[in-house]
Amino acid sequence: MSQEVEFIEPMGDDAGADRASTLFTESFSEEPMGVWAAPGRVNLIGEHTDYNAGLCLPIALPHRTYIALAPRADTRVRVVSDINPEEIMEVDLAGLAAGDVKGWAAYPVGVAWALREMGFDQVRGFDAAFSSCVPLGSGLSSSAAMTCSTALALDDAFSLGFGSTDAGRVKLIEAAIKSENDMAGASTGGLDQNASMRCEAGHAIRLDCRPGLSAVESVTQEPVDFAAAGVELLVLDTQAPHQLNDGQYAERRSTCERAAALLGVDNLRVVADQVNGAAGSASTSNDSSEAVPSAAPTLDSVLEQLTEQARVVGGMSDEEIERMTKRVRHVITEIGRVDEFVDAFGHGDIETAGQLLDASGDSLRYDYEVTVPELDVAVDTARAEGAYGARMTGGGFGGSIIALVAAGRSKEVAQKIADAFADHGFGAPRALPVQPAAKAERIR
Ligand code: GLA
Repeated sequence: MSQEVEFIEPMGDDAGADRASTLFTESFSEEPMGVWAAPGRVNLIGEHTDYNAGLCLPIALPHRTYIALAPRADTRVRVVSDINPEEIMEVDLAGLAAGDVKGWAAYPVGVAWALREMGFDQVRGFDAAFSSCVPLGSGLSSSAAMTCSTALALDDAFSLGFGSTDAGRVKLIEAAIKSENDMAGASTGGLDQNASMRCEAGHAIRLDCRPGLSAVESVTQEPVDFAAAGVELLVLDTQAPHQLNDGQYAERRSTCERAAALLGVDNLRVVADQVNGAAGSASTSNDSSEAVPSAAPTLDSVLEQLTEQARVVGGMSDEEIERMTKRVRHVITEIGRVDEFVDAFGHGDIETAGQLLDASGDSLRYDYEVTVPELDVAVDTARAEGAYGARMTGGGFGGSIIALVAAGRSKEVAQKIADAFADHGFGAPRALPVQPAAKAERIR
């Protein structure tokens, strides 16, 4: 038997805003202009699809990062966080280049830098204090919560006017992604930032990552009411160390890009739509019902074509080819599962929704190979305990799992996982109570 599993409760807006404000005043001896908050996210299905122009289905967590901020007239930035309140990081935006800022300060500083790089010269320096209850390094997008809360605060502080509309927020998302990619050196595909900035409470967003879509085209709000469906979503953080910038994520990404090039398409979404029948994609045309079935490639035929191209054009070894086809099979099938899940969950067919979560999890484990033993044990245990479905969520290589369980069973299933962890000699996991929560907003 293991210790009782800790459930990390959200801080709540009043407490979060108080903590960020107090830290601000103590650190900078003045009052902040305001307090803003942005949530972490959990992705229900559609994993490692965003950078393949695919589909994802995240919800915003009730766990948020709070930022108290005041603009400055000069270009200096001072940031502090309640993780280490004694340490105020200072940077000057003038002359700053990609990768110049090290450590956590790269994330908020990078947002101001990115906005200026995007041509918003009115963005200047600022002082900011952070307080967060989004677990760090757990695959729940604590970094997006930080960059998105900063982007929204800077939008208000320097009157950019983007934060009040969904289309405007897409610009702020661009700055948040640029900060993470170019200043912090953490590869990210847009799922996390879109979830943090665009999810409505009680909804998941169906995020379509094809380039060039308008804001309206890229997101639909899908109602998600776990209680009405008689279920709970258990989010369990394995606490296995998780890192996206250790090369594995970038390696998966470049394999997908190489595969798309070998198949002669811009991205794997193009072939996914051909194979899956193009639900909701631009390539669906009204008169395609007769032509497509005979012409549409199957998953097998695409993988055969890829194998052939990889051998002849790419000069790849059998081992490399096998690995690449597994990665591509994950991406194509995973994109197809997103709309199937929306459909099943939307019709209250929880059995099917759960099976889709299982299929996604198995695909991530065996084809995309982004799990670690802690994730596998957690998923296996949740399934053995009767979850409708369970899978790792987020980038993988550590981090969290989700399990769709019958209402009232989260605690029990979490405890069984903790017991299994103790048996395997793993550290204690922790869990989060989760409902689909609201996007980033100003609190004070
Ligand atoms: C990380 C990245 C996202 C996405 C997921 C996997 O969270 O930041 O952009 O690629 O991994 O779905």
